[in-house]
Amino acid sequence: MSRLLVTGRQKLSGETYVQGAKNSALPILAATILTKGENVIYNCPELSDVEASLGILRYLGCDVRRSGQTLLVKADDVKNYEIPDVLMRKTRSSIVFLGAVLARTGRAKLSFPGGCEIGPRPIDLHLKALREMGAVIKEKHGYLDCYASSGLKGTRVALSFPSVGATEDIMIAACLAKGTTTITNAAQEPEICDLADFLNKCGAKIYGAGEGVVVIDGVTALNSTAHTIIADRIVAATLMSCAATTGSEILLKGAVASHLASIITVFEDSDCKIKISDKGIRFSAPERLSTMHTVRTMPYPGFPTDAQAPLLAASCVANGTSVFVENIFENRYRHISELIRMGASIKAEGRVAVVEGVESLYGASVEAVDLRGAASLVVAALGAEGESEISGIKYLERGYENFEVVLSELGADIKKI
Ligand code: EPZ
Repeated sequence: MSRLLVTGRQKLSGETYVQGAKNSALPILAATILTKGENVIYNCPELSDVEASLGILRYLGCDVRRSGQTLLVKADDVKNYEIPDVLMRKTRSSIVFLGAVLARTGRAKLSFPGGCEIGPRPIDLHLKALREMGAVIKEKHGYLDCYASSGLKGTRVALSFPSVGATEDIMIAACLAKGTTTITNAAQEPEICDLADFLNKCGAKIYGAGEGVVVIDGVTALNSTAHTIIADRIVAATLMSCAATTGSEILLKGAVASHLASIITVFEDSDCKIKISDKGIRFSAPERLSTMHTVRTMPYPGFPTDAQAPLLAASCVANGTSVFVENIFENRYRHISELIRMGASIKAEGRVAVVEGVESLYGASVEAVDLRGAASLVVAALGAEGESEISGIKYLERGYENFEVVLSELGADIKKI
């Protein structure tokens, strides 16, 4: 099992290109199932979660080839509608294949994606909407057996929560449905807009992505297209957190400032300077951060839950007390016990974590147990006095492409062993 070895307190400097967004690549790869012809997907990061999706596409009959960050995906020969458990379990986000396979083949058989490290991850909103679109879905022995033999039909879907995955699943399924589908209380994340851009270039008719109401006029077929994945705003937020704990200045190329507004404001509150130009985002941190005050995770455009762990790690050495409120997932503070082992002073009670800034953290042997928690341990180790050893980095590799290489190129003393 590989681990990361970090010697803290090295200043970072220079510039780095922010990788393509994992949470945009995954639904777009699922959506290729609806298309005829060869899709060219640029800026697609090399991540284990992406590899898991490519495994599902191949299993379904797609022709998938990768060269660097460019993927060629052809779905002309898709016939299979069953995704085996072993492939479903590799990544929670595989549920987004449900709408795509159902819309393409009229059938879908897959296992419940199951919970993950941060919570039970229910899919009731996905199933309710697809049933309202005419799908017959039987749930038995942990399996979903879905039929839409006469195709799906457009309908009005009112989401009780602006679920990212449910919005994506419904958008994809609605592209080839008969009639118009309207999603109210839809998720507004930038990844939703990127998926809509991809689908509209394929000939879909999607209006209002990124706003609370999305309208999809069903069409009869979609053709392949070329598409460049947007930059990963959570990786950008994590890199800012690495600069924040080391009092560094770095330039983030390719990052989209408008996707990071809620994160930038938290860092500006804690005395970081952020300059936005056509070169990217120049981020410079003071020797010691001020408190982040109160950070509440919310659906976009609120503060993203995925950025909670990295920024909480940065707040551990701030000059003052910061309060985090995790409103999206039930179990997203598992990195706190490891940060305390490094000398952090944190009190977590349910959804609230109170972080009392300390002068410095100290290197320790720590273990990651989920993706963003792993990132938070890297953020903490970079600013800590001495050496840290981080295990469980398979979680980090789910969402961060060659992260130790990116950081060592910026001057960090970090290596994979
Ligand atoms: C997406 O997960 C992201 N994953 C998550 O990123 C991200 O944290 C999350 O959106 C919120 O922004 C991908 O895009 C692959 P949700 P998703 O459906 O779609 C509840 C990361 O670290 N809910 O918006 O699963 C659910 O329990 C990952 O990159 C239902 O109750 O998130 C949760 O409390 C982690 N019923 C809330 O909604 C449903 O049917 C948000 O879930 C679906 C969701």
